Amino acid sequence: MPVSEAMISALIDLKRADDTGLAAQLTSQLRALIAAGRLAKGRALPSSRQLADDLGVSRNTVTYAFEQLAAEGYLEASHGRRPVVTVDGNERADGAGAAASRVRSAKPRFSPWASRLKQTDWPMSYQAPLKPLRPGHGDAREFPNEIWARCLRRSAVRAARRELGPVNRTRLREALAHYLATSRGVRATADQILILPSAQAALTLIAAVLITPGDEVWVEDPGYPGAAAAFRASGARVTGMRLDEQGMQRMPETVAPKLIFMTPSHQHPTGRLMSLARRNEFLRSSRPGKTWIVEDDYDGEFHYDSRPVPALQGLDAHGRVFYVGTFSKAMTSDIRLGYLVVPPALVGTFEIAQRHIGLIASSHIQEALAEFIADGHFLAHLRRMRRLYHARRDHLVDGLERHLGEVLAVEVPSGGIQLVARLKRGRSDQAAVKRLVEAGVETRALSSLALAKPRDHGLLLGFAAWRESEISAAIRTMASCF
Ligand SMILES: Cc1ncc(COP(=O)(O)O)c(C=O)c1O
Repeated sequence: MPVSEAMISALIDLKRADDTGLAAQLTSQLRALIAAGRLAKGRALPSSRQLADDLGVSRNTVTYAFEQLAAEGYLEASHGRRPVVTVDGNERADGAGAAASRVRSAKPRFSPWASRLKQTDWPMSYQAPLKPLRPGHGDAREFPNEIWARCLRRSAVRAARRELGPVNRTRLREALAHYLATSRGVRATADQILILPSAQAALTLIAAVLITPGDEVWVEDPGYPGAAAAFRASGARVTGMRLDEQGMQRMPETVAPKLIFMTPSHQHPTGRLMSLARRNEFLRSSRPGKTWIVEDDYDGEFHYDSRPVPALQGLDAHGRVFYVGTFSKAMTSDIRLGYLVVPPALVGTFEIAQRHIGLIASSHIQEALAEFIADGHFLAHLRRMRRLYHARRDHLVDGLERHLGEVLAVEVPSGGIQLVARLKRGRSDQAAVKRLVEAGVETRALSSLALAKPRDHGLLLGFAAWRESEISAAIRTMASCF
């Protein structure tokens, strides 16, 4: 229904606290009134002075909105005259208004990639803000922000003197190659390392470069859903491999998969370590150039009970293994840096693809991180977090066994930042998770990480991000829910 002049200001609702400025809000609300036909073609709007008075905003705000809508073809505005609406209902002068409304009502046809992605249930949703005992996080409160800020500042100040360098900064590649060789047993030269915004970016890049729709990909079941989603989206047939005491199992000789994704150092989510015998089995059966192994060492920095087992990548003599890492767990999740060690024969193609997709991390951050590592701050932080997370793991295990031992069977991981507690009775971990969330404790249902029909029911509980007092409070809440 058309709107009377007096009603125009009544229909405008500007929110001063809104992040969008007043002028932008006014522009979009007037545009919506015209598009809906409520301000009809030929209709004169109030003068900018009048509308500014009615709305209690500055005249500049209204003038901006009128000029913007005139530029878009909705109004004709000339100096000293009230602006006039120039389009009818959903029509805009160039027809784009109608086109936009057709797009809104038509069912969009997405690419096969996006359509497949929409069928996966990843990324999983969590409620904001972070609550105990959400898995997957280290404690951002313990991160040495002052030291990091100094590295960032120095990196920014030096930027003017730096040459426009390679997208994967040499200093960081070298620092990482040294760290990975000495701490994780990874055998790689610096130029095999791509610096990316996340481990997830590494998986998407691998899928983009290697997967042809229909290719067979093996993943762990239960496993990390971000990996299955990345490979499924590129059209792979993803098969989940069950786990036994030695880790991921192999399918007896069938079609060789194109790719095998695994978390051998600390299986996600169970925390199991893949045995040396199983690692060798996978390597022996993966024909160079035919089957690629992707080793995701997402939280391999944290080990508590014994020395860490070296990466599987270091056992491979034929360049078949990609090694993926992230700083999300070792530093903070919002640092947004991960890396990919690429087999030598594929480096050139991966670098081209990295540039093409634009998976490039800021060189300021890369240089700052190179300094943070070279000056020993990274290792010092890891050492401190290892002690802290170790104590937190023990505190959680102890509390769960003491207060919830009748309902939960805890699997104590030798490392990492989370653990699995299986339900001893009752079958629905999803119902338990719902009850716990309502009571203020966030966990993840083990069954939600299954690829095929879930056989395991349990809770994935994070311990690294929470102080012992917070863990104790969460355990008390949990005990009241079961
Ligand atoms: C097994 C595994 N790989 C990769 C990632 C993703 O790391 P990023 O945040 O760097 O994408 C996660 C995050 O939870 C993970 O659990």
